[in-house]
Amino acid sequence: MLTKEDNELLTRSNADTPLGQMFRRYWLPALLSEEIPEPDCPPVRVKIMGEDLVAFRDSHGRVGLIAELCAHRRASLFYGRNEQDGLRCVYHGWKYDVDGRVLETPAEPAGSTLKDKAHHPAYPCIEASGVVFTYMGPTEKQPVFPAYEWLTIQPANIGVTKFILESNYLQALEGDCDTSHTAFLHRGNNGEGIEQPTENAPTFEIERTWCGLRAAALRPVDDDTVNVRVSTFAMPFIGNVPVGTWVNGKLDGYLVVYQVPIDDYSTARYNFRFKRSEPLIDNDIIKADRAQVQPDYGLIANPHNGWLLDRNVQKTTNYTGVQGFATQDAFVTDSMGRISDRSQELLGVSDSYVVALRLTLLKAVKEFKKGIEPPGLVFDPLKNDYSAAACTAVTVPVGTAWRQVEQAVYA
Ligand code: FES
Ligand SMILES: [Fe+2]
Repeated sequence: MLTKEDNELLTRSNADTPLGQMFRRYWLPALLSEEIPEPDCPPVRVKIMGEDLVAFRDSHGRVGLIAELCAHRRASLFYGRNEQDGLRCVYHGWKYDVDGRVLETPAEPAGSTLKDKAHHPAYPCIEASGVVFTYMGPTEKQPVFPAYEWLTIQPANIGVTKFILESNYLQALEGDCDTSHTAFLHRGNNGEGIEQPTENAPTFEIERTWCGLRAAALRPVDDDTVNVRVSTFAMPFIGNVPVGTWVNGKLDGYLVVYQVPIDDYSTARYNFRFKRSEPLIDNDIIKADRAQVQPDYGLIANPHNGWLLDRNVQKTTNYTGVQGFATQDAFVTDSMGRISDRSQELLGVSDSYVVALRLTLLKAVKEFKKGIEPPGLVFDPLKNDYSAAACTAVTVPVGTAWRQVEQAVYA
């Protein structure tokens, strides 16, 4: 459980909060590249941590992410005209470039310098793996773009899906750092039936890394061998899950989930799925992810239609009666309320990773309040190594030190 004060501290991320200021120090997913697919296409609304923004792609293909309301008299730039390397407000024609500079104020007299006085908020963007990332912190604190393997892999080997959730980011992130729910919540998704598992109590070994956490779940396979699955958390809200196919005895990629606060009450979840060995085009798992969302990335099954819960299916073939992995996750985490009241929980041993996640975030934000820089950021391009965030999975003889085996397998 958390005190009410710590729960507030960890769930509020608007610009005037300590957590919000800390989160703004990282490169964050803002939208999918496919939302602004070509030069001069229509702009889209984007909301991140309570800030209303507009994203557009200019005539040269550059992405702009700027405050939604016009610097002049605050009409929405979402309705603007995207033309000739700038987004033009349709009220009086002010035109903005991707850096938020006002290029023209055509209703002003010739020679006017009014445009030079405008300070329109704009955030730098970098596209990687089909996602537009942005940095919303102070310019002088901007870190290098992180070289996670899912952001440096061949574009054909990765697919990303976005889901809009109707709850705070933290309870969604806790679901990604909750390895024991899979055997229940997602039971029956792969045709394995709904019989409650007889053995479902892994032992956990959790360790801090420079950028987050590594959590090994150890489950006996038989008397002689044990299965070790290493999940990871990376600052500020990335949960990595060791699921995927195996190639040559190694996990060939895994699931990476970012839970980006839209505001304190809703979240944009991004599923990155990748394979190291081959392209992922038309992969069934990615198709299954996409099949769960509407064109606006809201879930097709959602709280407003009772999650399309089928009690008969729940009785016979699938543990929840709700379809789809991400929808099942949202189903339970949204059911906690928009912001879960963690002062009312009763935690067990199986929550060790969730507890470690909270302690990591709490330590970071409490230290940040005292002026200590947040963890997991790189400022020297030569030190841009995030291999500590990789997931692994191995089966080893009982008594083997899994870290050494893991290092040998993945070296
Ligand atoms: S409000 Fe945008 S140009 Fe006037
Ligand atoms: Fe899940």
